[in-house]
Amino acid sequence: MTTTSGKGPAGPGGGSQAPAAGDVDGAAEADAVVNGAAAPGSETPGPGPAAGEGVTALHPANGAGAVGVTVADPAGSAPGPAERLAGGPVMLGQIRRTISVTLDGTEARVLEGSTILEALHREGTPQQADTPTLCWAPNMDPINACRVCVVEVEGARTLAPSCARTCEDGMQVRTDTDKVRHSRRMVLELLASSADMSEASGDVQRWMGEYGVDPERYGPPAPPTVDGERERRHAGHHSAPDGRTRATVEQPVKVDNDLYVRDYSRCIMCYKCVNACGTDAQFTFAIAAAGRGFDARIATEYDVELPDSACVYCGNCIGVCPTGALKSVSEYDKREAGNWRPEEETVTTTVCSFCGVGCNLELHVQQGEIVNVTSPSDHSVTHGHLCIKGRFGFQHVQNLPQG
Ligand code: SF4
Ligand code: SF4
Ligand code: FES
Repeated sequence: MTTTSGKGPAGPGGGSQAPAAGDVDGAAEADAVVNGAAAPGSETPGPGPAAGEGVTALHPANGAGAVGVTVADPAGSAPGPAERLAGGPVMLGQIRRTISVTLDGTEARVLEGSTILEALHREGTPQQADTPTLCWAPNMDPINACRVCVVEVEGARTLAPSCARTCEDGMQVRTDTDKVRHSRRMVLELLASSADMSEASGDVQRWMGEYGVDPERYGPPAPPTVDGERERRHAGHHSAPDGRTRATVEQPVKVDNDLYVRDYSRCIMCYKCVNACGTDAQFTFAIAAAGRGFDARIATEYDVELPDSACVYCGNCIGVCPTGALKSVSEYDKREAGNWRPEEETVTTTVCSFCGVGCNLELHVQQGEIVNVTSPSDHSVTHGHLCIKGRFGFQHVQNLPQG
């Protein structure tokens, strides 16, 4: 077990396990195979290369054969390691060449297919790597919804979302121009004018300060909606603004189950929860975007309460929400009671004991009590996602008699 104190949200670049520029993806795995590891299905482990003989001697660049993904016919007779090695190294990943991009005037080499954000995280300065993001996460496919990560690309008519735009050879990127800073500020400011960002991650709070966000300049907030009002609105119908107040998404918190609450006054429609519930992790599809325009919202099917929906309470939506719109009941109750102490929080990494998969858990503890459970986004088994048992099944630990 390892314990750290005061762990904050994953910062930009957190969790990326990318090979260094110039590496060839899969080379390490290929080494393992080349150096005598027997393939599943091989009857007798054949001899590996002799000591001192390795990838170099067998590499096709030295005339040993073609490089590429090896496809084994499961119905055919399994070749032994010696036979397989005769055709060259077995590559378990794609070969990716590196390309050249210029980041604020400095040339860098990145793997082909990298996004601009990945290039900034891996090759950029600390300032470049600190590009703000809201709808991006290291363990999710780019969603490209919030546009707070925009950069200027030489020759492009519009700003490009760095989290989703793929690098091209010779691309020139600028990250700190007036246009970029103005656009990022407007995105943060308009979101903060309509949604409550007071419980957003520490990074988001810092970016709002650094970009000079001032949502108050849009006027006082309009009165909140009552429970269910936003759900009943006619999709696509817009009421004229009153010209004195700023529209918000303020509404009552949805507390309809024992495990987590949905506080959509804080929702910025980043779609992370939808994708975590869907194709990025859980494949449950219990939630989706409903409504249109300013009335767009995250909803269950037919707006039913969570216990009546398809939700399986994995909590993966909570794990990716950047604003605190989704949170555990334990956190919600403590915040409501004025007993939430993030500055005292410790995080202990351990292994889930519920089944044999062996997911890594991070136990967030405040005042001797587990208040939340997460998983590292770069963990090879969980990729930051958990099931209901790992995320919420910790009460038995706290109920043990003290001895
Ligand atoms: S808890 Fe899991 S299943 Fe339920 S809405 Fe969230 S991601 Fe979907
Ligand atoms: S509930 Fe959270 S994760 Fe889902 S769309 Fe809103 S802000 Fe994003
Ligand atoms: S973080 Fe890039 S579009 Fe949201």
